Amino acid sequence: MADLKWWQKAVFYQIYPQSFADANGDGIGDLKGAIDKLDYLRDLGIDAIWMSPNYPSPMVDCGYDISDYTAVAPEYGTLDDFKLFLDGAHQRGIRVILDLVLNHTSDQHAWFQESRSSRDNPKKDWYIWRDPVNGGPPNNWLSTFGGPAWEYETKRGQYYYHFFFREQPDLNWRNPAVRQAMFDAVRFWYHLGVDGFRIDAIGTVFEREDMPDHTGTLTPEALFYNGRFGKQEYPPEVIEKEWKATFGYQVDQPEMIDLLRELRKVNDEYADRMLIGESEKIEYCADDMLHMVFNFNLMRTERLTPKWVRQNQGERLSGLSALACPEPGAWPCNTLGNHDSPRVKNRFGDGEHDEELARLHLALILTLKGTPFLYNGEEIGMTDLILDDIRKFRDTLGVWYYQLCRSGIGLPEEASLDIAAHNTRDKNRTPLQWKNAAHAGFCPDDVEPWLPVNPNYKVGINVEQQERVSSSLLSYYRKLILLRKANPALIEGDYLPIHEEAIDYLAFLRKSAKQTCLVVLNMSGGSFLLDFTSPATSQQVPKHGELLFSSRERPSGTIDLTQAAVAPFEVLIVKL
Ligand code: NOJ
Ligand code: CA
Repeated sequence: MADLKWWQKAVFYQIYPQSFADANGDGIGDLKGAIDKLDYLRDLGIDAIWMSPNYPSPMVDCGYDISDYTAVAPEYGTLDDFKLFLDGAHQRGIRVILDLVLNHTSDQHAWFQESRSSRDNPKKDWYIWRDPVNGGPPNNWLSTFGGPAWEYETKRGQYYYHFFFREQPDLNWRNPAVRQAMFDAVRFWYHLGVDGFRIDAIGTVFEREDMPDHTGTLTPEALFYNGRFGKQEYPPEVIEKEWKATFGYQVDQPEMIDLLRELRKVNDEYADRMLIGESEKIEYCADDMLHMVFNFNLMRTERLTPKWVRQNQGERLSGLSALACPEPGAWPCNTLGNHDSPRVKNRFGDGEHDEELARLHLALILTLKGTPFLYNGEEIGMTDLILDDIRKFRDTLGVWYYQLCRSGIGLPEEASLDIAAHNTRDKNRTPLQWKNAAHAGFCPDDVEPWLPVNPNYKVGINVEQQERVSSSLLSYYRKLILLRKANPALIEGDYLPIHEEAIDYLAFLRKSAKQTCLVVLNMSGGSFLLDFTSPATSQQVPKHGELLFSSRERPSGTIDLTQAAVAPFEVLIVKL
């Protein structure tokens, strides 16, 4: 294991700064709050933090609209606070990676203010400007966050392009000055000691230079209504095809490869830094490009069934090992949730066994081959909060969903609110629930938090209560993270599926030179008596193993693998 890099061994934990911990009592999470919680994170056992954007931002897209890449948002603190946070993390053996938003800046960024001011200023080509065509936008492209992808600027008599909100103009990455400016921002944080970056929306950085009209045939309303909310007016294949026909020219262009190579060179000016892309495309991983991308494909299902996971792992791991990277090969990275997706407990629960499934899903993420990324609050089983009033929404995307349903589709008020509340990202961004006290102890009683707190902090979904109970989800997270650390096979071992026909449970070995572990995840309410040594098993399994972990009461010691009883929803990990 000594040969693996820190980011291959690490368990990552995403902090969503606005919602993590509020130290100065203004209802908004901040760096001092995060500093106060570093011991909590150390005790949880995580090795690295991914901090969502911590830069100054008008917060149209909750920080993903950056107005200064080399400063800290005043709501979160100062650069000195950030240094204290970083030092505090490092002192506890925790690395920190930041978010790098390459595709766009805020429209309030000084670069854009200058660029939009005239056609002949020094930054005139820093963004994507085009002349009007027939008095309108240069083509029919859409923004993925609704409406046209073009916005008119009277001062220039031209349109600028934005893939996301109009307040997030796309940078012109074909301009070398843009590259240098952004690379300098990377150097700024690396110089301070930051350990890496998660690169936002990398697929959107380039668009086809000749900008032909898209060839989608659905109206934007129909496309978004069906594509985003899972409505079934058209078969899913049609929606997928239409989505590609509509957005294909705006994403994943070949120029990305060269840009990633340049970025990697900057990265490698500093020792031991890491780049992970917000993309599932393994083509972006190489010795001279990104270190990792996320296995988002694993999440693209209603239920994480054994069949689904096996198929996903089969495709993913063979794809990664075929890449031209030296041993240990391009490295996998698994996650089930983040600030853009429903809470794991909701998304992959069945409404009946959510607690059991939450435990199984953590075990899955921590025992599959690859670096796990956890999202803050997942460790106490935080769930989505469905907002009941459009005035409480803070996610501009959620507000647009509401408008799309109301004015675009013409749905009644109640139905529109329901769809928007179930699809806005606010639901999974609510403040961390620290204790059973007003606002879950996130901020003072008499202060309104920036987003409402989920009232289920009162029924045990809070850190303080779970810390005291050895059977809590939080205690379970701690145990499993520790277990992963103590067993090299779970980090560096190959993934070898067994019992591949099983419908209800997933069984696989993790096998390294030093150790082999058997992992059994019973994803059903059934009980099974299993023979892992049968000749039908594709891998050689000895008759006995030593119990490492079970989510059920089990006597410690030896387990008979010719007839191993597996209980409903049990997580069973055995050393062979
Ligand atoms: C992906 C981020 O995760 C998301 O929150 C954001 O809205 C878009 N990129 C645009 O930056
Ligand atoms: Ca605060």
